[in-house]
Amino acid sequence: MPIAYDKTSQTITLHTDHTSYQMKIGPCGFLMHTYYGPRITGDMSYAIAWGDRGFSGNPYDAGTDRGISADVMPLEYPCEGSGDYRYTALGVRRADGPSGCDLRYKDHRIDSGIYTLDGLPCLHANEADPADDPSTLTVLLGDESTGLHVELLYGVFPHADTITRAARIVNSGKNPLILQNAASASVDFLGGEWDLIHFEGRHCGERTPERLHIRHEETRIGSRRGTSSHQNNPFVILADRRTDEDHGSCMGLSLLYSGSFCCSAAMDQFGTVRIAEGIQPERFDYRLEPGEAFETPEAAMIFTDCGLTDLSHKMHNMINDHICRGPWAKRSRPVLINSWESMGMDFDREKLLRFAKKASGLGVEMMVLDDGWFGERNSDYAGLGDWTVNEKKMGGSMKSFAEEIRSMGMKFGIWIEPEMVNEDSDLYRQHPDWALKIPGKKPVRGRYQLVLDFSRSEVVDAVFDQIAGLFDECRPDYVKMDMNRSLSDVCTAAAGEQSQGKILHKYVLGVYRFMEKLLARYPELLLEGCSGGGGRYDAGMLYYCPQIWCSDNTDAIDRLQIQYGTSFGYPQSTFGAHVSAVPNGCTGRTVPFFTRRVVSLAGGFGFELDLETLTKEEENEVVRQIDDYHTYSDLLMGGLYYRLTDPVANREEAAWMTVSEDKSRALVSIVSLNRRGGQPLRFLRLKGLDSRRMYEDTESGEVFCGAALMAQGIPLLSLEREYEARRIFLREV
Ligand code: GLA
Repeated sequence: MPIAYDKTSQTITLHTDHTSYQMKIGPCGFLMHTYYGPRITGDMSYAIAWGDRGFSGNPYDAGTDRGISADVMPLEYPCEGSGDYRYTALGVRRADGPSGCDLRYKDHRIDSGIYTLDGLPCLHANEADPADDPSTLTVLLGDESTGLHVELLYGVFPHADTITRAARIVNSGKNPLILQNAASASVDFLGGEWDLIHFEGRHCGERTPERLHIRHEETRIGSRRGTSSHQNNPFVILADRRTDEDHGSCMGLSLLYSGSFCCSAAMDQFGTVRIAEGIQPERFDYRLEPGEAFETPEAAMIFTDCGLTDLSHKMHNMINDHICRGPWAKRSRPVLINSWESMGMDFDREKLLRFAKKASGLGVEMMVLDDGWFGERNSDYAGLGDWTVNEKKMGGSMKSFAEEIRSMGMKFGIWIEPEMVNEDSDLYRQHPDWALKIPGKKPVRGRYQLVLDFSRSEVVDAVFDQIAGLFDECRPDYVKMDMNRSLSDVCTAAAGEQSQGKILHKYVLGVYRFMEKLLARYPELLLEGCSGGGGRYDAGMLYYCPQIWCSDNTDAIDRLQIQYGTSFGYPQSTFGAHVSAVPNGCTGRTVPFFTRRVVSLAGGFGFELDLETLTKEEENEVVRQIDDYHTYSDLLMGGLYYRLTDPVANREEAAWMTVSEDKSRALVSIVSLNRRGGQPLRFLRLKGLDSRRMYEDTESGEVFCGAALMAQGIPLLSLEREYEARRIFLREV
């Protein structure tokens, strides 16, 4: 039974294949959290220490029992006002002033099948594995004084070792209430020394792991930008201090949300560690009228005691099997060429067609027309919002252009940035109130653009209709959906004061609705997510876009670090990675062509360069690169990914490998970083092979046993130059 209720012990236990998660209806009806870890049976509440603790108050209904305190108990959905002074999941204010509530258990229900949330991405059942039936637990909590009800939703995906959580908060009282915080998940761990691994970054430098000791002081990361952001990522790991790639306990927490979020982790006064994640409470002030409900985004959790690599494998499978949808979720993708890095917005039809012809001649399968094809878009300063083709620049309609591309045997892809508007656009001139602005205050511009108010459905629909009008004609096979600034001036012209605290969340719902409409109208479409590169690389976006442009930084050496960090929480099948020109536009660095290939070979492979400038030898290399993608794409889409070095700490070399699920094939990639004279002997130990099987290096013909490759490893002497790459394809013999 994936969900078991034990009436005697009053415990509810969720079981996946390898883990258990337990809660218990405790004294006074508090819903306690008693366990999350490797699979167990029995009542885990024996681990809770009870006792009278000074300055940890007691609920009124505990009477003279001073051992009961919400400040000390591990709790399932802690709320502010119950006597718990730690970071709480729920904060509620009454419209007449006072804040605080006190949630107690009312009821629960176990259902087969999985819950859904209204307008929000959620894990779905794996169609390829009908035996892996998810089930749902709904626990109802209630607060007497306000009439607030909270339905805690839990999804159990046994084979994926995944537990999902969300909360549906209903104002069942008679008076308006204002939600000030509503986390998706909060988990307490009794004792232990834990670290928070999160992924910090910036534009052109996303997702570098940072490991912080959790201490008594609260560690809080998140985004206030209206997007999940380049700066922090909503995927985090709570790891036992001794946990490394191959050993130890850790829990991954991935929020399926693309807006402002917050993750808090702290050790309390008695050594319990609490981690909570959800919507960002700052600027969230969500008024609920009587009868109204709010649903939090979903959080997906995975626990393992086998180290970070195992956690990543499980996260990858969870995303591939239960988040990504549609025909492209598991299919290898067309190799594309994108116009952006080689020509920006400076093109005309002739130039584009020459560019496409050259690409198709070398075997590229799709031409993507990036920014610059619409309205008066010849620079950053104009055009966003006007999704009509600039026929002068394009030398005709988009339909005729797409047809020409298709006549070359290629698919056709196009770039859009639907959430944005330039003040110099017809859309803005007609609807200046559609941009987020505060009356009387000059808005902050980002890349000289303003943000459209996607919290309003009429704005979403108007932009969608413009874009769909065009797409109905030119029928793109692929769309790169971009978003190039952080939100500011968060104020809607549509509603009164009482709605301002809802905008950021409603904006995200608007973005999701836009993408849902797009996929419903064009079910075969391959949608790639992008936000100035990887500014919205989250599990929420992956529900709509099976691939995301990792970073605007295409320097292969910087990308090693970006893709390394990304791999902790996201599969390489979702990485958009392209071979670009050198010296690199971002860093000025020159890296060998082969190294650029090795680094870019991931789920969404392509090029960002002018193929007409290549030498014959370089052209041959492009052909080999495309060939490579076809040879290895099934491995890249479905294989197990192993990080072999940490390129942040180890500046000697970066290495990773992908092993097929049956362990019969493996692709090993190595890039040398800093070289020193008199290089000492270095070895790279491989992972994930079968120690008893024999493997042939298909290039040299040498045969090795799996155990040798993993224990002794391979010598790295052949890498003599900085940024040189080596690749080994192993096949079982
Ligand atoms: C963003 C994207 C780039 C490119 C430009 C176009 O920066 O990340 O790849 O599409 O916008 O303006």
